[in-house]
Formats: sequence, C-alpha cells, structure tokens
Amino acid sequence: MTYEQAKNVLASHDQAHVLQFWGQLNDSQKEALLRQIEVLDFSSITRMQALLKNAQSKVSSSSPFEPAPVENPTGAELETCVAEGEKLLKEGKVAVLLVAGGQGSRLGYDGPKGAYPIGPITHNSLFWFHARKVLGLSQTYGVHIPFYVMTSESNDAATRAHFESNDYFGLPREDVFFFIQGMWPALTPAGKIILDTPGHIFMSPDGHGGTLMALNRSGAFDDMENRGIRHIFFFQVDNPMVEIADPAFIGLHEIRNADMSLKVCRKRDGHEGMGVVVTRNGHYEMVEYSELTDEQMERINPDGSLWLAYGSPAIHVFSYDFLKTEAARAMPIHLAHKKIAMISESGELIKPEAPNGYKFEKFIFDIIPNAKRLVTFEFERKNEFSPVKNATGNDSPATTQRDLQMKWRTWLEQLEIRVPDTLSIEIDPAYALNAKQLREHGLRIGC
Ligand code: UD1
Repeated sequence: MTYEQAKNVLASHDQAHVLQFWGQLNDSQKEALLRQIEVLDFSSITRMQALLKNAQSKVSSSSPFEPAPVENPTGAELETCVAEGEKLLKEGKVAVLLVAGGQGSRLGYDGPKGAYPIGPITHNSLFWFHARKVLGLSQTYGVHIPFYVMTSESNDAATRAHFESNDYFGLPREDVFFFIQGMWPALTPAGKIILDTPGHIFMSPDGHGGTLMALNRSGAFDDMENRGIRHIFFFQVDNPMVEIADPAFIGLHEIRNADMSLKVCRKRDGHEGMGVVVTRNGHYEMVEYSELTDEQMERINPDGSLWLAYGSPAIHVFSYDFLKTEAARAMPIHLAHKKIAMISESGELIKPEAPNGYKFEKFIFDIIPNAKRLVTFEFERKNEFSPVKNATGNDSPATTQRDLQMKWRTWLEQLEIRVPDTLSIEIDPAYALNAKQLREHGLRIGC
C-alpha cells in the first residue's frame, strides 16, 4: 500500500489522524505503519463505531431468559455415549483445539499463559499438561490426534519456542498446528483509532471468536478436512484439569447429532465469573457473566437453590461442518472500556488513570443460537475444572495445584494407595489419563 492509498482509505473512514505524525517517522516506521493500515478491517471498525454510538454492549440482555436444561447421562446411556465417543476417537475423527491467544493480564505472568509452571512438583507448564493429554489420548486410541493451538501476535513466537524447547512434549510435530488469531484496533469514545506511538496503531486480539476466521485463513480447516475430522473438542488454556476429548461428551454430541455441545458445572456461587447457558426467544445462548445483573446472579429458586446454578467452563464440542459454516458469517462484537496508553493530538504519550478507550472482541459462544441441535452436558467440577486466572485467591495457581492433587489422590485411593497429606503428587497424563490406566500401567514413582 502506498502513502496516497493509505491517506485516501483513512480519509474515507474519517480516520485521517492516523497519518498525523507521518513526517516524523523514519523509513522502516513508515513501512510498518502502512502494513498495519493495509490490513485494517474497516467493515468491522464501522460496526464497532455503530456499537459505540448506540452503547449496545448489552444488546439483548434486557429480554427475559431462562436457565437452559442440563443433561446428565448415567448408567447404560452413559456407557453408550462412551462407546460412541471411543469409536470416533479410534477412527481419528476427533481434533483438539486450544485457544491460547489471550493476554492473561489478571495472572500477571510475563509470557504466554500456557507456559505458566503449574505442575506441583515438576513445575511443568499448562501447555505441558494439555499436550501430554493429547499424547495420552493418541496412545490410548492408536491414532494421531491433531492438536490445533490458537495464539495471537503478542505470544505466538514465545508459544512456539516453548513447544520447541520442550520437544513438543513428545507429540509428533506434524500433529501440532499453530495458528494466529486476528488483531483489532481500539477506539476512542468518538470512534477514532488509537495510536500507541506516533507511528503505530494500538492493536489487541479479536477475542476467541476470532478462532473461526483464523481457522479458515491459516489452512487449519483444510488440514482437518484432509484428516477426515468430524468433531472438534475446544477448550481454554487456563484449566489443567480439563478432560480433553472426553469420550462420553463426544459420544453424546454424536448421538444427539448436535452442532455444538457444552459442558456445564455447578457454580461456586452466584457471582462466580462464568458464562451461563440460557434459552431466550426459543433459542439457546450464552450470557457472559459481565452481562448479568446482581439480581440475576443472586436469584434463588423456591427450594433454595441458585436460579442460574450452572456455569460454562468453556469446554465445547463443535461439529466440523457447523464450525466451517459459521466461519463464513459475521459475528457480534462486544466492547470493553479500558485504560489504554495513547498518543495525544499533540504527540504526547498519555497514561490514563481511568478507562479512556474501547477494546473489541468476538466470543465464540455467540454462534450458539445458530446451532440447530445443542447439548448441555453436566460434569462434576472437582474432576475437571480448576482454572488459573488470578495471582492469588480463588482460581489461582495455589487452588489449581490443590485441586489437581486432590484428583490424583482420589485415583491413588481407588488403587488402595494412601499418600500422606504432606507428600505432593503429580501424574503424567501421557502415562495415565485416569485411575483405570494407572491401575493398568502400574505405579512408577519418581522424585
Ligand atoms: C471465560 C469465558 C466465560 C467462562 C470462563 C470459564 C469468555 C469471554 N468468557 O472467561 O464465559 O465461563 O472463561 O473459565 O471467554 N482467548 C484467546 N484470544 C482472545 C481472548 C481470549 O485465545 O482474544 C483465550 C484465552 O487465552 C483463554 C480463554 O480465551 O484461554 C478465556 O479468556 P479469558 O479472557 O481468560 O476469559 P474469562 O474472563 O476467564
């Protein structure tokens, strides 16, 4: 793109100020700025401006909704689901998709969140646990399970380097597919693009809803198609307890011929930061926790239970065909009011004390209403969900390590092995994915 072309396109979108400091830039800064302008997604920027104008961040939360029904197969039904899921895994029809493009700002860890050392003894990373589970599953079912990892510009190189320096955690390299999500500019309340230096547009990841376009753009969908993938197991980077590609979950999804399935678990309390699956106007949808009112979060049923009792840990299964179709549609945009360091009109760096701009994101769960059939599958959170979100308190490394150890302790108890509370436990998922495998493989103790 030339300077003239950039000037014209910016002027036509009322963003001419982006080139305001052009005369002060050196050649490489000019080149970099033109590259940024060239890939700006003006149709989305126009939608962001409309969103700002109408202050529509909570677009539909005013119309009434009900908590969605929840399924909990047991006995023979559960066995059928497991058998169906295992069949699909053995046939190589299941892919694993991890979204790890977020900035992890609440944890305050300097690096990709997935590199956070969570192993209670080994200090192995979150990525280590996820990848070793994919390896354990591949070994269990005798197939190559592809592992798609979404990164963002800010952590892609560091994520790849972490996998590289750990020899891909034992996974064949050809089974790990990294792809980068899109970036969006932030806007001032007046809808103007924000510069963070005189020659650079401030950009941030476009949310995990960006997964869909990024799967398309990167060739990941083609790779899935070539491998004959039917279902995609989706999860977030922060939860090392996740039962990746749980056969019962995949099996129920298949049996119900669902487009999308979601795991749900009981919330710790009404205010826990979890999205809730609801029905509204005859459709399922997710209401994000930030969009719930206090009254909705705290409402109690006549029997004393929470009205919105179940939350989403963001563990889903998508049918490949559904996800591919959704990738061609525009998704809703959400906005967040944030403090963003920016260059003022006079060229000075402003470090705000209060929110001064808006960041925009797409959420993958906004495709829920388009699913023709959907399953909500209840699981017991102590077995599968303990995310690392905060540096201290709830959902912190300390609580995650505690919960991981409780889970492994239960496995050992099933083998009639009691470990003193003073001893730490850690089990490599590639050695045993569950208590049954631990029994089959026997106990090998390392210090
Ligand atoms: C998220 C969910 C919430 C759910 C909760 C369960 C959203 C908006 N909300 O909340 O409904 O109940 O987890 O723990 O997701 N990510 C990207 N790219 C981005 C932004 C995020 O890949 O641009 C990834 C992160 O790396 C992470 C995941 O998405 O793996 C969740 O992001 P985060 O911002 O931590 O969401 P929460 O607020 O914890």
